[in-house]
Amino acid sequence: MTNNNEYKSFNIDQFYKKYLKGPIIFKNRNALAPSYIPVELPHRDKEIEEIAGKTACALRGDTPPNMLCYGMTGTGKTATIRYVSHKIAQHTKTNVPWWIYINCSIISTPYRILAHIYNTIIGSEKIPPTGLPKDVIFKNLLGLLDYKIKDSICFLVLDEIDMIANGRGGNEILYDLTRLNENLDSCRTSLIGISNKLKFKDSLDPRVISSLGKDHITFPVYNAKELGDILDKRAKIAFNDDVLKEGVISLCAALAAKEHGDARKALQLLRKAGEIAERFQNKNVSREHVNKAQFELERDHTIDYIKGMPLQAQLVLTSIYLLSLYNKNNVIISGDVYEIHSELTNKMPGVRSLTRRRISDYINNLVLAGIITAEKKSMGKYGATKIIKLCDDPSFLGKILESIDKIKEGLNHSPSLIQKNKIRINNNVFRKLN
Ligand SMILES: Nc1ncnc2c1ncn2[C@@H]1O[C@H](COP(=O)(O)OP(=O)(O)OP(=O)(O)O)[C@@H](O)[C@H]1O
Ligand SMILES: [Mg+2]
Repeated sequence: MTNNNEYKSFNIDQFYKKYLKGPIIFKNRNALAPSYIPVELPHRDKEIEEIAGKTACALRGDTPPNMLCYGMTGTGKTATIRYVSHKIAQHTKTNVPWWIYINCSIISTPYRILAHIYNTIIGSEKIPPTGLPKDVIFKNLLGLLDYKIKDSICFLVLDEIDMIANGRGGNEILYDLTRLNENLDSCRTSLIGISNKLKFKDSLDPRVISSLGKDHITFPVYNAKELGDILDKRAKIAFNDDVLKEGVISLCAALAAKEHGDARKALQLLRKAGEIAERFQNKNVSREHVNKAQFELERDHTIDYIKGMPLQAQLVLTSIYLLSLYNKNNVIISGDVYEIHSELTNKMPGVRSLTRRRISDYINNLVLAGIITAEKKSMGKYGATKIIKLCDDPSFLGKILESIDKIKEGLNHSPSLIQKNKIRINNNVFRKLN
């Protein structure tokens, strides 16, 4: 006898069998992965030509100039440098240049940068992650460069260079790295800095700018047509024939063009649209899948953004969330956010409460991130306030906040402002007498 309420468990065997029998969307899914190195880079000819021109002398053993590559995120800076490095290697038989690639958002301290260069050349973790004096590593590194690389060129690529330029000892290490050649006997180095922070040069020492910033290559953003060409080429490698419906590529390109012409975003959209079609066992990828993909990516982005925010910003958001829960019909005003934030921080040892001005800064940042809207409203002689609304539904936000350990407990807080037995008079909250 079957009961309507009978518990039905997920049948994983059936699921896999069905999946294997289902339509095959991807031919090579990896071609849309962030780590994939494309064999062609459409619409980067000018930049490739400039970098090739500056680095060609390395083929004859001469020293290329230090240079900086600028451009917004997803404009192909990293991909172009990697592409040129492969090409140079293909055209040299002897004395192949070395390329040491350092992602400064991961390897961000002067010590770790020197250790990374040293360890990469020697091919093992000879220099420990901490402990040695920096000048000792530096001296050893000079010896190693001459000994191991001899009279070849060593390119040092500092990707996301702004991450060290702003940090402690950043200017000093950059100065040392740009002047390595003065202390080398046979090997020659060339530094390539990459950044998407156009203003990062402001934080550099004039001595560093003079040896690093003379040659720079700017990467313009892609327009929708250019993104379409990039996607077209990649789609031919990634998808099975006739899987993509008409308009899919142009929609991905148009949506990414709106977001500052970011090729990474365009590729991500196309990949996600394919995965959604696969999830639903559809034979084709359609424009609806792209729209769904856009929605899911925005949600993923919001989750990552909120989880990565500083604790105080998370607490400001938690205050807004709590007000939205208990205060469904009423408007949320910035003054109330301030109150709830103080109540929350009072319960958290070691966490300071903030001034109204700081709370207001955090509110502005949440607006910029697209998590809330805040409309300024004049309150006559009482000044101005902000009317705040959440952009997503509270339950979605609640789930994200619940997954943050330090915030979890605060979610049980019942703001005194909205407790029925409390009343607010002149910005003080009192218990009501029954
Ligand atoms: N012209 C192009 N042709 C093919 N693929 C491209 C092109 N430009 C960028 N891409 C691809 O787009 C993605 C982002 O490019 P890349 O990582 O080079 O951007 P970036 O400028 O270094 O961005 P960020 O500043 O965020 O590091 C990569 O997957 C890359 O392969
Ligand atoms: Mg990059």
